[in-house]
Amino acid sequence: MNFSFYYLRKALASKKRGKIIAIEGIDGSGKTTVSTEIYSYLSSRGIPVYYSFEPTYMKIGSIIHRFLRGEIPLDPHSQALLFAADRLEHLSREIIPHIKQGENVILDRYVHSSYAYQGALLNDLKWVVTINKFALAPDLAIYIDVPPSTAIKRIKKKKGSKLSVYEHARFLGKVRNIYKLFVKKGELIEIDGTKEKDQVISNALALVCKNLKLKLT
Ligand code: TYD
Repeated sequence: MNFSFYYLRKALASKKRGKIIAIEGIDGSGKTTVSTEIYSYLSSRGIPVYYSFEPTYMKIGSIIHRFLRGEIPLDPHSQALLFAADRLEHLSREIIPHIKQGENVILDRYVHSSYAYQGALLNDLKWVVTINKFALAPDLAIYIDVPPSTAIKRIKKKKGSKLSVYEHARFLGKVRNIYKLFVKKGELIEIDGTKEKDQVISNALALVCKNLKLKLT
């Protein structure tokens, strides 16, 4: 029996399982702020919730982080395979055990990050989707839209000129186009990331509350 499918079937079978809520966007879109605010909002109201992000800092994720910092080279197809493998480790060791316990898992990046970034890098979205086919689909995926020029300005303000390997306006433009493709397909729900921070957060919270059938307070 396929190991991943075994996990997925068992997790999905549970009626009380928590949900997977992913926050997506290009670097500098504000997804880390939004995802941590969602986590705080839910936990302060006693809703079972767990926070995580990708790439992880588990074994495979740590290799990816070294690559992102420019410390080691990685073939583009290997990058895609490592992101997909890191995701399966994340699912089986962390995400699925938490949703099985009824906790909602808030993710700063998930499978659509691979579609968008590795899809843009390799010009082969179909293959990137295929290698991620064992990843459990998110119950809600919010995409925070900002133009690459705004994103780069924000990143430079935060980090100075030390940008990581994917943080370039032209590339982020391609990434954004793929995200938009998945908005059109209905897999991602778009919110405007150029609005005031509080507005972006409350727009994201409204989507989360609707999905979890909670009253927004
Ligand atoms: P990011 O969340 O932006 O990290 P930080 O907040 O520390 O800047 O993610 C790191 C990078 O990893 C980002 O440039 C996007 C990239 N990435 C992919 O290319 N594919 C993926 O599947 C994931 C999860 C991330």
